[in-house]
Amino acid sequence: MLVDKIFENAPTRTILAPMAGYTDMAFRHICRQFGVGLTVTEMISSKAVTMNNAVTNSMLLRSPSDAPCFVQIFGHEPDVMAQSVLSPYLSGYEGVDINMGCPVRKIVGNGDGSALLENPQLASKCISAVKQAIGNKPLSVKYRLGVSDDLGVVDFTKMCKDSGADFVTVHFRTRKQMYAGTADYSRLEQICSVGLPVFANGDICTKEQYDQLINRGAYGVAIGRGAVGKPYLFSQIANQPFCMDLLEVITLHAQMLLEVFNARVVCNELKKHVVAYLKGMRKAKSTIIAVNSSKDVQQILQLVEQFLEENPIYKRISND
Ligand SMILES: Cc1cc2nc3c(=O)[nH]c(=O)nc-3n(C[C@H](O)[C@H](O)[C@H](O)COP(=O)(O)O)c2cc1C
Repeated sequence: MLVDKIFENAPTRTILAPMAGYTDMAFRHICRQFGVGLTVTEMISSKAVTMNNAVTNSMLLRSPSDAPCFVQIFGHEPDVMAQSVLSPYLSGYEGVDINMGCPVRKIVGNGDGSALLENPQLASKCISAVKQAIGNKPLSVKYRLGVSDDLGVVDFTKMCKDSGADFVTVHFRTRKQMYAGTADYSRLEQICSVGLPVFANGDICTKEQYDQLINRGAYGVAIGRGAVGKPYLFSQIANQPFCMDLLEVITLHAQMLLEVFNARVVCNELKKHVVAYLKGMRKAKSTIIAVNSSKDVQQILQLVEQFLEENPIYKRISND
C-alpha cells in the first residue's frame, strides 16, 4: 500500500493535521524535528493555484527537511483540481490531500470543503480527477462525520475508496459542530471496516489516546490543536526522549518565516504560536498580553527571553 511507504521510516503513524494560519513551513519543520510521520500544508485553493496567485505560491514554499509532506487543496471543479496538482509549486510534494471537511461558511458557500459531503457524486469526480493527475503518488481525503449526523460517513468512505483515495483522515465531528463539543469516535470500527487506511482525528493530545485509537483499528492519527505549543507531543507518542529549548524553537520559527514573509505577517503568525507555548505556564499572563499586543517580531522574542530569565524552569521542556 502507498500509505505504508509514506510511514515506513516514521517512528509513529502520526500526521500533523492541516491548520490554516498554523501549519506553515516553519511549524511543520519544528514538528518534523519531534518525529511527526507526515505533515500537510495549510489548505490551498486549487483555483488560486491555476491562476498563479502570488500569495498562494508563497504558502507553498517548504523546507527541504520537511518530508514527507502532502499539499492540501480545496475546490469543487474536478478539472481545476486536477490541473492545480500539476503546478510546479505542488508537484514536489510527496502526495495530495483533498479538503472535504472545512465548515467555514465562505468555503462551504462556494461548494468547497464540507459542501462536498452533501454531493458525493461530485466529490467522487474530484477524487478520481486528482488521482489520475498525480499518477502513482498517494492521495488522501480529509472529511468530517457528516453535515449534522454520522449516518452517511461509512458510505462516504466507500466512495473515497472506489474513487481512488489511498487513505482518509476523518475528523470525528460533524460540520454542524464546527470545533465545539467533543469528537465522537463511536463509528470508528465501522469506518475502518471499509478497508481503506483511516487516520482518526479530533481532540487527540496524549499517547494513551493514540494507542487506544490504533488498537481500535485506526491506521494512524492526525493531530491538530494538540500539537500547537506542544510539538514534542509527537516524541511523547513515539516514547522517544526530547528536549525543547523554548527560545531556540521560537527564534527558529521566526527566522524561517522572515525568509519568506514580511515582518507584519510573521509577527501575526508567530504570536499565535508563542501564546500557545506560554499557555498554562505559571506567571505567563502578563507576557501573553504583551505578546498579543506586540507589533514587532524582535520585541516578541525579547518578551519570551525576559519571561524565561525570570522563570528558568520553562527554558527547556523535556521528558527526562
Ligand atoms: C485554526 C484551524 C485551522 C484549520 N485549518 C484546516 C485546514 O486548512 N484544512 C483542514 O482540512 N482542516 C483544518 N482544520 C481542522 C483540523 O485539521 C482538525 O481536523 C481539527 O482541528 C480537529 O483536530 P484537533 O482536535 O486535533 O485539532 C483547522 C483547524 C483549526 C483549529
